[in-house]
Parts: sequence; C-alpha cells; structure tokens
Amino acid sequence: MPEIRAVRPERDGAAKRGRREARVSGALRDRELHALRVLGIETSCDETAAAVYDTDAGLLSHCLHSQAELHREYGGVVPELASRDHVAKLPLVVREALAGAGGASVDGVAYTVGPGLAGALLVGAATGRSLAFAWGVPALGVHHLEAHLLAPMLEPRPPAFPFLALLVSGGHTQLVRVGDPGEYEVLGESLDDAAGEAFDKTAALLGLPYPGGPALAALALEGDPARFRFPRPMTDRPGLDMSFSGLKTFALTTLRNEANDAPSRADVARAFEEAVVDTLLVKCRRALQQTGLSRLVVTGGVGANRRLRAAAGELGRELGVEVSYPRIELCTDNAAMVAYAGSLRLLAGESHDLDFTVRPRWPLDSLSPPAPRAAGSEQQPQAG
Ligand code: KG4
Ligand code: ZN
Repeated sequence: MPEIRAVRPERDGAAKRGRREARVSGALRDRELHALRVLGIETSCDETAAAVYDTDAGLLSHCLHSQAELHREYGGVVPELASRDHVAKLPLVVREALAGAGGASVDGVAYTVGPGLAGALLVGAATGRSLAFAWGVPALGVHHLEAHLLAPMLEPRPPAFPFLALLVSGGHTQLVRVGDPGEYEVLGESLDDAAGEAFDKTAALLGLPYPGGPALAALALEGDPARFRFPRPMTDRPGLDMSFSGLKTFALTTLRNEANDAPSRADVARAFEEAVVDTLLVKCRRALQQTGLSRLVVTGGVGANRRLRAAAGELGRELGVEVSYPRIELCTDNAAMVAYAGSLRLLAGESHDLDFTVRPRWPLDSLSPPAPRAAGSEQQPQAG
C-alpha cells in the first residue's frame, strides 16, 4: 500500500509548491512508461466507494459501503449524516480498495467533484487531494454523470463511440448523445422528478423502506399487470423531455380510490414500473430514430432495473441497435466508474491544482474532451 508520509507545515509556500510540482510531473513522466493506475473515490451521495483501475490490466478492485441503513429511518438521505459517515468510512474503504489491488502504488487519484451533496463531495475531494499530495501524484475531480456514462466501458465488450445513453439515476434522467469521452449532448431530460426519485417517492407511498427503487421492483414482480394502467407522460407530444412526478400522484390517487391492501400495492407497483419503463423506451426509440445512432447504453441506478434492461434489449433487437449496460453493481453509484473516467483525463495530462472546491451543480454539457491544460492556465472547478 502506498505510504502516507507526514507533511510538515512550511513557511515558504512557493518552494513547497515547486517541489510538489516536480513530484507530480515526475509521476506524469513515469506514467508514459507504464500503465496508469488510478484510485477512484465516490462520495457524492450515500455510497462511500473506492476503486483501483489500471489502464492496462483493467479494474483491480472496487469497494463500497452503503449508508442505506443509516438513512432508512428518515425515509431519504440526510445530507449532514451522509457527510459524517463518509468521514468515518472512507479511509477504511480506500484501504480495502488499495489492498484489493495488491497494495501497489497508484499514479493518480480521481474523486467525484460534482454534482452531488456539497458536504459529501467535500469529504471525497479532501481525502482524494490529501492522498494525492502525500503520494506526489496528480489528482482530478470527476463529473459524476460522466462517470455513469462511461461505466459500460468497464465491461468485457464495451460499446464503441458514438452511442445514445439513457442515464437514469436518483438525481438525473437524461438522454445523451455520447460522441466520445467528454463529448456530451443532452438531447432530452426529465423536467421534474428523475426516474429514480419517482421510484423512491412512489415506494415511500407504498410503505416500502428507503431506498425504494429496488424494493418497488421486487414488489412489482408480485403485481397483476392487467389491473391498473398508468399514463405514459409526455409520450403523446414531440420531443425527448420527460416528466415522472405525475406518476407518483397517480399512484397515490389509485391507492386512495381503489384499495390499499397488500395485493393492491403490488398491482400499483407493477403498473408504476411498467409506465416508467415504457415511457423511457418511447423516448429512447425516438432519440435513436432522430439521431440515427446504432448503439444504446442504459446506465445509472435505475439501469439496474431488470424490467428496464429486458425492455431495452427487446427494443434493440427490434431496431437492430446494439444495447449495453454496465453490470448491476456498476449501474448504481460506485468508484470504479470514477477511477475509469479519471484515468482518461489523467492520461491526457489533466489534473487540478491543489486548491479545490466541489461542484454540487454542474451541467454535463459544459464538459470538453480530455486534454492537457495549456501551460500556465489552471483548469479549476468553479463553485456551482
Ligand atoms: O445512480 P444512483 O446509484 O445514484 C445517483 O446518482 O442518484 O441511482 C440511485 C437510484 C435510486 O433512486 C434507486 O432507487 C434507483 O437508482 N434504483 C432502482 C433500482 N436500483 C436502484 N430503481 C429501480 N429499480 C432498481 N432495481
Ligand atoms: Zn449516480
């Protein structure tokens, strides 16, 4: 495991910075001679995760601690509790990831810098930066959604670029044209609740514990598909934007007007899930037809939903489109995707200066392809 050296406070900041930069550029030079090994850190919400990705050997380890248990009694993520738990667990998770990767040293550190919960992001950013500083390697803040978009590249048969991505997470639902790493065009998105958020809120109405998405999907398996039919919002008008908040209200009204017994709740779960999946696929079909793209990637937490995965596969077969998804554990938040996205940018010579901030809000289409920064110009994340 890389040794964490104690750094003594110094009065001469410029000399200290000069030495650190010499160490970092040494690491960058060495990197050209061998594969780049990157420690990834993810703390944007309620998962504390670390992973080691090697540009030659692939994913060496990925470890995760879920805070679901901690937030359950509140029915959702409590930001302050999330930050504190990240502080407690991240060092252990990082240690485990490094040990899982055989204890060899890393050439760079990539951590999620946004979007996400400000306090939670700061824990990952501070830890990532400190480790990079102590090890004398470059560090880089990664866009969480870029990491989700590139997660399928960790699979044995990664999709070729360009592809259409359906990015469905707890905070975002977007259709994105992915031209290349860093080339993202958001074609459509949810105007209100993200699909995952709608799953979680509807699950709460059904009395299911947080996080509701997987619990609702499990309940839906017992439901009668013929009993209720929910609307497919915004599918009868042109465009690729979506809206899911009405489905949650529809679920509430159905439970009130019909019955709220166990079989009815399972039927509502089934009708809700089918409506979300159908709606997403109507928009995917439209986006594929509009763009002429021949590859579809489904990614993000809701991408773990089996009904959605199966339906996307069917759509792909019907349209002759290649469909891929990350494995289930890489759909939901993880650090493997952060390490991978970071490795592309670190390989291109990007790294951020020692001073840092996080970007709780960060539009995806403000990104550009990985590139070395021009001499003298710091590429610094700006506060969102
Ligand atoms: O990507 P993610 O782990 O975190 C964010 O970046 O938001 O996504 C979490 C979301 C939650 O809303 C969770 O309920 C949902 O993904 N989710 C699911 C399933 N697994 C996770 N939704 C439906 N079915 C699932 N199997
Ligand atoms: Zn996520």
